[in-house]
Amino acid sequence: MSNTDKYAVLGNPIEHSMSPLLHEFFAQKTGQELCYGRILVEAGTFEKTVRDFFKNGGRGCNVTVPCKLDAYKLADSLSDYAKAAGAVNTLKVMEDGSIYGDNTDGRGLVYDLKRLSCPLTDASILIIGAGGAAKGILLPILNESPKEIVIANRTVAKAQSLASLYPGKVKGCGFDELDCSFDLIINASSSSLSGELPPVKDEIIEKAQAVYDLMYSKTAQTTFTQKASSLNVPKVSDGFGMLIGQAILSFELWRGVKPDFDTAIKKFRPC
Ligand code: ATR
Repeated sequence: MSNTDKYAVLGNPIEHSMSPLLHEFFAQKTGQELCYGRILVEAGTFEKTVRDFFKNGGRGCNVTVPCKLDAYKLADSLSDYAKAAGAVNTLKVMEDGSIYGDNTDGRGLVYDLKRLSCPLTDASILIIGAGGAAKGILLPILNESPKEIVIANRTVAKAQSLASLYPGKVKGCGFDELDCSFDLIINASSSSLSGELPPVKDEIIEKAQAVYDLMYSKTAQTTFTQKASSLNVPKVSDGFGMLIGQAILSFELWRGVKPDFDTAIKKFRPC
């Protein structure tokens, strides 16, 4: 068996994951010797799969759908971001053999929003959706001191319950109650997965300075970024940069060196 440090991404499905390509590119650019694979996790086997991987030389892993909650439960210790998200996308084997869980998704998003010069500090921000994706981005966005964050969701009670985790800082409501404008609109709902649009009025979208969809598609715009572009929103982006950002932060946690964001974006999305 080789002594090369092993990493992997775990989830189901997993064959579509770009993580191996990204991490091998980062390793090459930073001169780190490692290998990175994909592991399909069958239902109910997450813990055994991870423990076997670590027993066989795995030093860390990324965790994707539907295993982020299992990873959260398995970790011996958690970062504040993982605690706030209630989910883990990065596991690391520590020197004492314990397992540390982090969540780099939200910080990956903030990294990309800054790269794109989207409004954040003192900005009024609308987050669409109140599921796990929305929960995972709240703390990193709040760290940037926005003026206000409003979460709008079809199921209003979910928006209110998520907002109540940050009393006085985040408001939760239904789409009908939205009546003002926002500097930045983030689609954290899974609407784009099914090619649907969340029920946000055009008048609200067209007043935004920036629209960001956490989803991305390798081939085309998402339904929501397409809508925002058609309404001439000045800055429109899908979540590809967030994908790169979260991967960079995982790599840094494991290896102690930070790959360059722009080099990675140019390589994987050249236009
Ligand atoms: P994730 O963990 O990816 O956030 P999730 O927990 O299933 O996934 O949450 C999906 C979110 O997308 C929910 O907020 C859901 O709204 P409901 O809670 O009302 O179901 C939202 N969502 C999914 N499809 C949507 C659509 N077409 N329009 C608006 N919101 C949608």
